[in-house]
Amino acid sequence: MAGLAVNVDHVATLREARKAVYPDPVSAALLAELGGADGIVVHLREDRRHIQDRDLQILRNVVQTKLILEMAQTPEMIKTAIDIKPDLVTLVPEKRQELTTEGGLDIISNAKDLSESVKKIQESNIPVSIFIDPDLMQIEIAKKIGANMVEIHTGSFCDAKSDINKQENFDKIVKAIKFANSLKLFVNAGHGICYKTIKAFKGLHEIKEFSIGHSIIARSVLVGITQAVKEMVELIREL
Ligand code: PXP
Repeated sequence: MAGLAVNVDHVATLREARKAVYPDPVSAALLAELGGADGIVVHLREDRRHIQDRDLQILRNVVQTKLILEMAQTPEMIKTAIDIKPDLVTLVPEKRQELTTEGGLDIISNAKDLSESVKKIQESNIPVSIFIDPDLMQIEIAKKIGANMVEIHTGSFCDAKSDINKQENFDKIVKAIKFANSLKLFVNAGHGICYKTIKAFKGLHEIKEFSIGHSIIARSVLVGITQAVKEMVELIREL
């Protein structure tokens, strides 16, 4: 059965909307673990728009499952990763203006720098995943530069407006997942997955873990985070 890593960034988004001390993403992470999360994800952004350095420090001490740090490939973030030692680093592209991570990392045009960053992080015994679009060439280069894992961007399917578009994009995602698995890369999947779209992944046992944030945090406002996580875990169990 695939695992579920819960991204708690948007608990911090709510806190930062008022520059308050609550709600605390640390409390949310612990309650998500109670609901059955297999890991906690946070994206420490350069502009610190949601997760703060303080959150990451405390999460490292209290998360009992595993802590996954999403980050851009910058000297500052690489230093933070090496200091904090998360259980996994996921490298993502980052633009200041974007609402959320918009696309996968372009490994092809950035292979040399990325390869050095991956090595540097791995030297501290931290495995590295790279968030990429469902593109076979990108996956091949991810393998070549020594990534342990890829996270396939599922947004093109989850956010598609028409059925035809949904199907086309889903087919690409399936191909990418199977190809990455054939190269012996671990495969995660994430972005835009909700309580409805998760059902499409039935039978895709190559996926090691789903990384889900917005839909779970949104539901948690209404039903509580432990319950929201439990409901997603049950859906993943049926895949
Ligand atoms: N995976 C990655 C690499 C992401 O950047 C995000 C968004 O922070 C997610 C998964 C989760 O996406 P969503 O919040 O749409 O579930």
